[in-house]
Amino acid sequence: MQEFDPQVLNEEPIPSPEEFSKRAHVRSLAEYREMYDHALRRPDEFWGEQAKMLSWFEPAKRVLTWDSPHAKWFEGGKLNVSFNCLDRHLEKNANKPALMWEAEDGATLQLTYAELHARVCKFANVLTSLGVKAGDCVAIYMPMIPELPIAMLGCARVGAMHSVVFGGFSATALADRIADAKSKILITADGGFRRGKIVPLKETSDAALKNCPTIEKAIVVKRTGEKIGWQEGRDLWWHELEEKASKDCPATPFDSEQPLYILYTSGTTGKPKGVLHTSAGYLLHCMWSTRLIFDLRDDDIYWCTADIGWVTGHSYIVYGPLANGASIVMYEGAPDQPRKDRFWELIERYKVTIFYSSATAVRAFMAWGADWINSHDLSSLRVLGTVGEPINPAAWKWYYEVIGKNRCPIVDTWWQTETGGIMISPLPGATPTKPGSATLPLPGIVARVVNLSGEPVPPGETGYLTIQKPWPGMLRTIYGDDDRFQRDYWSRIPGVYFTGDAAQCDKDGYIWVLGRVDDVIKVAGHRLSSMEIESALVSHVAVAEAAVVARPDEIKGEAIVCFVTLRSGTAPSKELRSALIDHVGATIGTIARPADVRFAEGLPKTRSGKIMRRLLRELAQKGGLPGALTGDTTTLEDLSVIERLAKAKGLDEE
Ligand code: WTA
Repeated sequence: MQEFDPQVLNEEPIPSPEEFSKRAHVRSLAEYREMYDHALRRPDEFWGEQAKMLSWFEPAKRVLTWDSPHAKWFEGGKLNVSFNCLDRHLEKNANKPALMWEAEDGATLQLTYAELHARVCKFANVLTSLGVKAGDCVAIYMPMIPELPIAMLGCARVGAMHSVVFGGFSATALADRIADAKSKILITADGGFRRGKIVPLKETSDAALKNCPTIEKAIVVKRTGEKIGWQEGRDLWWHELEEKASKDCPATPFDSEQPLYILYTSGTTGKPKGVLHTSAGYLLHCMWSTRLIFDLRDDDIYWCTADIGWVTGHSYIVYGPLANGASIVMYEGAPDQPRKDRFWELIERYKVTIFYSSATAVRAFMAWGADWINSHDLSSLRVLGTVGEPINPAAWKWYYEVIGKNRCPIVDTWWQTETGGIMISPLPGATPTKPGSATLPLPGIVARVVNLSGEPVPPGETGYLTIQKPWPGMLRTIYGDDDRFQRDYWSRIPGVYFTGDAAQCDKDGYIWVLGRVDDVIKVAGHRLSSMEIESALVSHVAVAEAAVVARPDEIKGEAIVCFVTLRSGTAPSKELRSALIDHVGATIGTIARPADVRFAEGLPKTRSGKIMRRLLRELAQKGGLPGALTGDTTTLEDLSVIERLAKAKGLDEE
């Protein structure tokens, strides 16, 4: 959780630029408040009205059936998600660019709505020909190439769930996710490109598939042309299958609650949770929020820089923008490839109008300096967005001034894998912004900062961020573990949705999200669990015990620090330290590589044996307490000193 400087609460809000407000979908705070109040008073009427933006084969009979904590949205309705993202745009926008893809090496591919539709139809037929049926799960482990959204929409078209696993995860992580969802098919590529290097996705997939009996076929996109392993009878080339497939594939109507996808995310325990999203409510939430928050119009060029392996890519590269018929830019690679101005060069060339990125990216751009930016024409930009972690006011202001030239509203959007879509965010033409605050909840979203008994805390005090009423994009359950769904989200504070975030609400009702209160760590916006990293560490032969905490990091928001005790007979060394970092990387994925591993004689524990994480966090941040050893990571730290100090101060019960 970040340090909160109450001083920021006193700063004057920044009004929406006047020129922007004049033409916006929502033009004033008063207009927003009117919508908000209407949605609060008559939620069914409000959401029922919004649902008309979807194309239905059969309209819903009911808006919401709420048997807490289980929701059914738009029961009785029938629709097809891929039809909503593609077919219905063909009449007016067949030749409008849907996807403008750029490879890291500069190669490009543009697909119009008609072309994207044809490719999705073919791929849907491929899936059917391989025996994929509605309700089956298809695992996807791919680089950022057009085949990724095509695969997702192909699944949606035939009513199969996809489970996209981020390409930075390890073979073990991939295998665990395939097993949990009982995926029948894996879609991958021979490799991907990242910073000019090849990410060997097929090799990792092969390692994973050794332990995945549910997988019948692996479909492989040829991206790098590298030599790869091949298992006859299991492995199939994407291009060969696509070539043979018919592009005639009428969209089948499915129930509103047809499962759309599973996306695994980290929680408090070592086991990732499969967040389940379904069709109509989720799609509506994505479509409606994209339109409102980015003030989306027909001629916009929209670019979200997230990886589709995370929820931001699902909701705000694929489903939200395509349901709106938007033209989207999709970029394969890294922001500093070949140079640190790649993003600005892309914005200039594609004339991007809406740019949605992360706080970590903004802080990195800031550190790289304005020289990379000033040689580019960014005048096409209208709206700037950020997501994934709290953005500090200094980075916010830099984004506003240096990228937006003081004329583009910033939308700091708060949401989670579980919420499906954005929940708290300014509306760019309506909400005055306060740098560092995600501002106000969207109409229809009832967010409150409360104490553990569920009572609202007064302005300026820290509490837990909760959502009080069901919303269309909400997760329906944890796949295969409904008890955990109820326990983790709906029992901590009875009757309301517990987000896991700490927040403050100021006198104007603005929400300031401070960060997680559980053991979730956000490194560069990527969500990791300290327990998962601890289990990875103790699976190494040298390690007896491990405790993992976050320390603040100027660019990435948080960094991972591990405290480790070794088995007897093993001595700390630089080599062991690197070996442990590599081991975590190999077990979970490169994104989980610790920034620091520190060896200790024993971990400080409470009388009841709980590790004193708060003390470790302090220690991690300071790099050593007076009297304890400093940042030298190759010697043993005697943490018993701290333990004794804490006990003396009565700090030992967290
Ligand atoms: C954090 C990402 C502050 C928060 C879409 C949340 C934020 C977690 C913001 C979910 C924001 C996301 N301001 N914190 N604008 N957006 N978070 O599931 O801690 O990867 O609980 O979803 O990210 O992360 P997830």
